[in-house]
Amino acid sequence: MMRVLVAYASERGGTAEIADWIGTALREAGLDADVRPAGEIAGLGGYDAAVLGGALYAGRWHREARHFVRHHADALAHRPVWLFSSGPLDHTAEEKQIALAPGVAKVARRLNARGHATFGGRLSPDAQGFLASKIAKRSSGDFRDRGQVTEWAAGIARELRGAAV
Ligand SMILES: Cc1cc2nc3c(=O)[nH]c(=O)nc-3n(C[C@H](O)[C@H](O)[C@H](O)COP(=O)(O)O)c2cc1C
Repeated sequence: MMRVLVAYASERGGTAEIADWIGTALREAGLDADVRPAGEIAGLGGYDAAVLGGALYAGRWHREARHFVRHHADALAHRPVWLFSSGPLDHTAEEKQIALAPGVAKVARRLNARGHATFGGRLSPDAQGFLASKIAKRSSGDFRDRGQVTEWAAGIARELRGAAV
């Protein structure tokens, strides 16, 4: 059975949950998936493919996603890789394909990523932090769409299973 690493970088838990949904969808499609925080992963040994996701903060991927790419660039370059971001605090991510943040686009090119998706984000109305509390005053809510995430992950599973036969 193919083993897939789903690594995520999340500040407030929204992206972590998206990673869990991806892991569940991959398992339902017959793959073996480990969902883990990017900062806790020592290496990619034993994994046949990777999905890496980060929350978007100030137009950039969460730092742990960026560090992960730097530390594991070689291993990632030798495996099929998919990337995802989570951010927009409105319904745009469900309605259209969002242009990649420039830093994430660079990573996608560098790793020759098989695909990338930007999913909606989540921010609680009582979010802590100077900037977060300001943003939450005008755009709090949960804009993640589990169906969209599951469909994207099912596509990854189809590609990987197709490659394995
Ligand atoms: C301070 C701050 C800055 C943010 N900047 C962006 C941004 O540049 N682009 C974007 O799409 N979303 C942005 N967001 C929304 C977050 O990406 C969204 O809340 C996401 O779901 C957070 O994920 P997490 O719960 O995994 O940390 C920002 C949110 C906060 C609080």
